[in-house]
Amino acid sequence: MSIIEQPISPYREVKDQTETSSGERATMATWIDERTGLVSANRAFLSWPVPKYVERNLLYSLGGLTLVSLIYQFFSGICLLFYYDPSAEAAYNSVDYITYQAPLGWLVRSIHHYNASAIVILVFLHLLRTFFFSAYKAPREVTWLSGVVLFLITLGFGFTGYLLPWDQKGYWATRVGTEMAGQVPLLGSALAQLMRGGATLGQLTLNRFFVTHVALLPGALVLLLALHLYQHRYHGVAPTISKRGQIRARHSVPYFPNWVIMDVLLGLGLLALLIYLSWHERAPLAFPANPADTDYSPKPEWYFLFLFHLLHYVPGRLEPFLIVVVPLLVIGSMFLLPFLDTGEERRPWRKPVTTAVALFYVAVIIIFTFLGS
Ligand code: HEM
Ligand code: HEM
Repeated sequence: MSIIEQPISPYREVKDQTETSSGERATMATWIDERTGLVSANRAFLSWPVPKYVERNLLYSLGGLTLVSLIYQFFSGICLLFYYDPSAEAAYNSVDYITYQAPLGWLVRSIHHYNASAIVILVFLHLLRTFFFSAYKAPREVTWLSGVVLFLITLGFGFTGYLLPWDQKGYWATRVGTEMAGQVPLLGSALAQLMRGGATLGQLTLNRFFVTHVALLPGALVLLLALHLYQHRYHGVAPTISKRGQIRARHSVPYFPNWVIMDVLLGLGLLALLIYLSWHERAPLAFPANPADTDYSPKPEWYFLFLFHLLHYVPGRLEPFLIVVVPLLVIGSMFLLPFLDTGEERRPWRKPVTTAVALFYVAVIIIFTFLGS
């Protein structure tokens, strides 16, 4: 055999020997693998050893379920694009057509509608799981930080999607949202102008929200998600906080099927729930946007309600302060967390300050969401 014919990887060497000795014809998989390396890469991907404690554990399936939920959202979003018309004159009618006339339009739109809330809940629960299991600690800082950005992107999807039907609900909530942005000290008016594309909400606003919703945010999400999942693979699953888990961690199981199966089953359960909700009550559509109707009482999506409601408790002149301070405090401390809590301790009850601050945030968000609703 000449130098040029030497196999380039040990994996290929083993295969080549087997094939020549048995004289069997190469299978389709071998043929593809020799040319692309994809079959062996896939095999390595699926057989990745993970600690036994992730098996059949709901808490460790929250990230996977969020991923499945995102896939449903992309799929339903792309289907909506076949009928949706992003112009201020036609947007409402196109959404009305999707909801009441297009074949299965009611189902696709309602799945997109309910699943948007499901994603926000799942991302939040996944965030809490990784927080309380101290999975943000070194060397997983980048996994956590990419997660924080993914969280913001998810909220960005919710905010921009709400305006797209161009109905009263979306119009007035977005008007309040952009007015709140306008109150940010120093940057406010530039920020509001950037969001609206003018002094008031109009065609340019819809264009901007549409492009952000269907192009900018999906692109950013895919990139960040690739980084997030690669980091997760690179570092492996974070150590458990329980003794029992540590004992079980001595044993590993393959990623497929042991871990994946739970994500698949939960994903199918979620799809069944979304179909049931859609069938029970299709996604709502309020009256068409009417900028002249100043009596309309605006209400944002439920996941922004806590901030909206908090504003009721502060005097008008303190509003700009609250609008900046609350998000900055919450998001800022999420970004700083891995660099502040650098100790070895992973058990939340042994880190009372970190845990108390997080519980305080969660309590404020939950209480003000309920009060607001
Ligand atoms: C679009 C949203 C997100 C998706 C699709 C996603 C997906 C995943 C998946 C599939 C895993 C591995 C399985 C698991 O541990 O559940 C994971 C791990 C992780 N995620 Fe996320 N994630 C998202 C958002 C977040 C957020 C918001 C944070 C926190 C701010 C975060 C922090 C982490 C951390 C620290 C790990 C490592 C956990 C460990 O090693 O035990 N992720 N993510
Ligand atoms: C995390 C991902 C996403 C979230 C949270 C989300 C959220 C939303 C929300 C809340 C609405 C308003 C739905 C309603 O009328 O009640 C909406 C509408 C819409 N979304 Fe998304 N979306 C996401 C991804 C996508 C993607 C990837 C696309 C397409 C590439 C898309 C396309 C659309 C379209 C065309 C509409 C207008 C139709 C309608 O309102 O029913 N979305 N989205």
